[in-house]
Amino acid sequence: MCGIVGYIGTRQATEICLAGLKRLEYRGYDSAGIAVVEDGELEVVKVVGKLAALSQALDETPLDGSLGIGHTRWATHGKPSETNSHPHVSNDGRIALVHNGIIENYAELRDQLEDQGYEFVSETDTEVIVHLVDKYYDGDLAAAFRRAAEELEGAFAVGIICADHPDQMIAARRFSPLVVGIGEGENFIASDMGAVREWTDRVYVIDDDEMAVISRDDIELTDLKGEPVDREPYVIPWPADAAQKGGHKHFMHKEIHEQPRAMRECLLGRLTDPERAITLEGLNMTDEEIRGLRKVVFTACGTAYHAGLVGRFLMEKLARIPAECDLAAELRARDPVVLDHTLAIIVSQSGETADTLVALRELKEKGAKVVSVVNVVDSSIARESDGVVYIQAGPEIGVASTKAYTLQILTIALIAAHFADVRGGTGEHELIELRRAMLSLPEQAHELIEREDSVKSVAAKYYRCPNSLFLGRGVNLPSALEGALKLKEISYIHAEGYSAGEMKHGPIALVEPSLFTVAIAVKGDVYDKMIGNIQEIKARSGPVIGVAFDGDTEIPRQADDVLWVPECPELLTPITVAIPLQLLAYHIADMMDREIDQPRNLAKTVTVE
Ligand code: F6R
Repeated sequence: MCGIVGYIGTRQATEICLAGLKRLEYRGYDSAGIAVVEDGELEVVKVVGKLAALSQALDETPLDGSLGIGHTRWATHGKPSETNSHPHVSNDGRIALVHNGIIENYAELRDQLEDQGYEFVSETDTEVIVHLVDKYYDGDLAAAFRRAAEELEGAFAVGIICADHPDQMIAARRFSPLVVGIGEGENFIASDMGAVREWTDRVYVIDDDEMAVISRDDIELTDLKGEPVDREPYVIPWPADAAQKGGHKHFMHKEIHEQPRAMRECLLGRLTDPERAITLEGLNMTDEEIRGLRKVVFTACGTAYHAGLVGRFLMEKLARIPAECDLAAELRARDPVVLDHTLAIIVSQSGETADTLVALRELKEKGAKVVSVVNVVDSSIARESDGVVYIQAGPEIGVASTKAYTLQILTIALIAAHFADVRGGTGEHELIELRRAMLSLPEQAHELIEREDSVKSVAAKYYRCPNSLFLGRGVNLPSALEGALKLKEISYIHAEGYSAGEMKHGPIALVEPSLFTVAIAVKGDVYDKMIGNIQEIKARSGPVIGVAFDGDTEIPRQADDVLWVPECPELLTPITVAIPLQLLAYHIADMMDREIDQPRNLAKTVTVE
């Protein structure tokens, strides 16, 4: 789970690679390295730690050259160390390689290569690739890689350079993401398009078992057998500065603030008038198929899973289709029974999460129709799905997912409301009111952001508490799970997300003055029960932060503090409630001086199972 970049052109490769890696640091940040071809020699600098350490090392040992590859690592095989970090280099020091993915048969290949005299210096799976390429290298680097790839099992996106070829960079992909950025007199490779957007808006998105032989003025695309591949460049739709912090202290903060605009963009062209039907380009389902659906299965990981849990609710309540939601990492273990006319909805910000991709393949193989709800255009999950409805959130860089979560729910709500319309599961008047409420969400999100200071004052009261509990019921149980996940991942405060109905079955034992509870108590089906739960906690001297609709008079009487949200239909409250909970987690973590955009042990895109 790493990021790779590469540059061939006329500028200093280290500068381009460092800037590209900076934008890929969300993919891992325990070590990093760069290799450059300089005067017919290969020079490598590697460090343990973040890119700042690599930048400092390059100040001390500058690498001069206009062909280079770089890597930021999140350890899978072998601890973070200089020897385990990439680029890995052939024994004669002439070929260097960066890799994202996992080589599953590396142990077997390593034994064979060691028997043939290759000396391994690292504990990584990656090192076998560079020795294999070296083994088959007889002056033609591309041919050597093709031959090596025949023996590789698993996933790879690689960038390769060789001291003998100062005018060539090789890149190839199987299952791990890779793009080639198209410049003028210069070209780039990267794990995603955000890393190259500063220099170009045109990229080739490389497919599985394809490779690129890249020079300064040419990009030759082939499959791994060497057959030419014809591909139109993809034009990146967002501006070059979309991946900058834009005056915010952290990407997470910027992304929380981007939600009103992103919601507007997500609705654009899909829902414009409450009286008119929703149109979802990319869904790729006929009305007949929608009417015939017998079941919907959501699957995802982490925050996206919480969006799927809300989706299950929306699908059953609105479209009256039986729905389930599985953690992607657990789905295969239970060997799910897939009935005819099952729709699998795969939720993923990155579109590259390995567990989610595996679950997608499993469900597809068992006969489900697969529609994905994805942010990153042309990502693996998007490409392997029968239909894809993009959430249109723009790049999300902060490791803790914020805008992708609310937009995943909004997108799923659009799908569920569309299904309800086609199947007649909900009354016409009710649907019009729901669509009207959806159209108001960007404005409500804006109002919620305007109230940031009041959330900050609540954060100031509680940031020293070592423990917390997030309680919700019904459609807001996922909100409680997500609120707890946000807080724990960026502040490291112990946070439990629980169904308020489960309180008396165990967690109430935790309640005491140093554990604060966030109770989601917006008006709706479960409101009275939530008030009962708040009273139970208060009776045991636990401080409570209530989340309530504007104008509620009961919650301020019961809770110590209140996070206010504007009124909207209960089914849409997971979207509005998420915003103050994101801000609460953000400000608590900021007051604790945490590394908010890069929490310890986490990576933005988890491309290993
Ligand atoms: C938490 C977070 C993760 C991701 C999860 C799935 O803030 O970001 O839990 O939601 O790793 O990632 P995607 O959505 O890229 O599949």
